[in-house]
Order: sequence, then structure tokens, then C-alpha cells
Amino acid sequence: MSDFIRWQKNWALQIPHLDQQHLELVEHINRIASSVARDTSRSAAPLENESNPSRQGHKSRCEDVPLHMRQICDQIEEFIEQTRLHFREEEAFMLQVDYPGYNQHKREHGILLAELVDLARQVRQGAEEFGLGTLTALKRWLIVHIVTSDRAYAEYSHRREHARGGNVAAREGLEGPSSQGWSAAG
Ligand SMILES: [Fe+2]
Ligand SMILES: [Fe+2]
Repeated sequence: MSDFIRWQKNWALQIPHLDQQHLELVEHINRIASSVARDTSRSAAPLENESNPSRQGHKSRCEDVPLHMRQICDQIEEFIEQTRLHFREEEAFMLQVDYPGYNQHKREHGILLAELVDLARQVRQGAEEFGLGTLTALKRWLIVHIVTSDRAYAEYSHRREHARGGNVAAREGLEGPSSQGWSAAG
């Protein structure tokens, strides 16, 4: 199937490691979408020995899930882990640049993670057939969060970096902003 989410260049925050993580989250959602599409187009459950490289990491969590939902369950668990790591790095970045919207942003992350964990539990318990409707809601949340909340801290950090570069240039008689990005400091 064509990509469920197609990455748009203008979603980039110009903060390479966080942009890379956003791209990976998008790619992960696309993999889940492919599994969901495959699942709904099948009349029978996949064979037991079907290759599933993602199964190993969360075998204990998803092993009681009906076979046809197991790969999706694994992928959701991995997505949660990937999201948790991303949020942690993003929050560290916001602290590093003294972003004033840190608390509000962290709250948004907490709400999404709690919803994801609850969804995964429902999938494991068989109460939720994870379908494209749920995935569409997740897709919308991710994109809106990146282009509004994430962009807000990115723009703040760029303005801050620009101002600091300007100050350095003024002190040292240099032109333009500092070429040293935030990552070079840590
Ligand atoms: Fe965020
Ligand atoms: Fe983000």
C-alpha cells in the first residue's frame, strides 16, 4: 500500500536528531498501517511460522493476543517505546534551551502516552480491534503536535540561538549567528 503518512519537508524543525525521530515515528505508523491493511484483507490468520522480526522484543506482552493481531500488538508496543524515548529526548532538549512552554508540552506528551498505553492494553485484552480509524486519529495527533507544539519549542530555540549568536558576533566582531549549534555544547 502507499504510505499512510507521507513525510512533508515542511514538518522538519531543523533540529536533526529530533527530525530524524519524527521521521522514524511516521515510518513506524506506516508499518502498523501496512499490517492493519494486510490483516483486514485476509480471511485467515497468518501462518505460525510467518516471519515477524518485531515479535522478539515484546513477546511476553503480546503472546496471548490472537495470532492475527499479534504483529500489530508488537508494533504498537514498539511504537510506545519509541514514542517514550522521543518524548524524553524532546523534553531534555526543551530544558536545555530553557523553553518556557516545557510544562504544558510535557503534559501533552503524558496524555498521549497514557492513551497509547491504554489502547495497547485494550488490544492485548482483545477489547479493541486496532483499525485504520484508530490509526487515523493517531496520525492526526502526531502531525498536529509536530507542526504546532513541537514547532513552537523549535522556533523558540532557533530565536534564542540566533540572539546568542548575534551577541557573540557583536562581542567578537563576527558576522552572523554562531555556527555552533546547540548540540555542540553538550
Ligand atoms: Fe512533542
Ligand atoms: Fe516530537
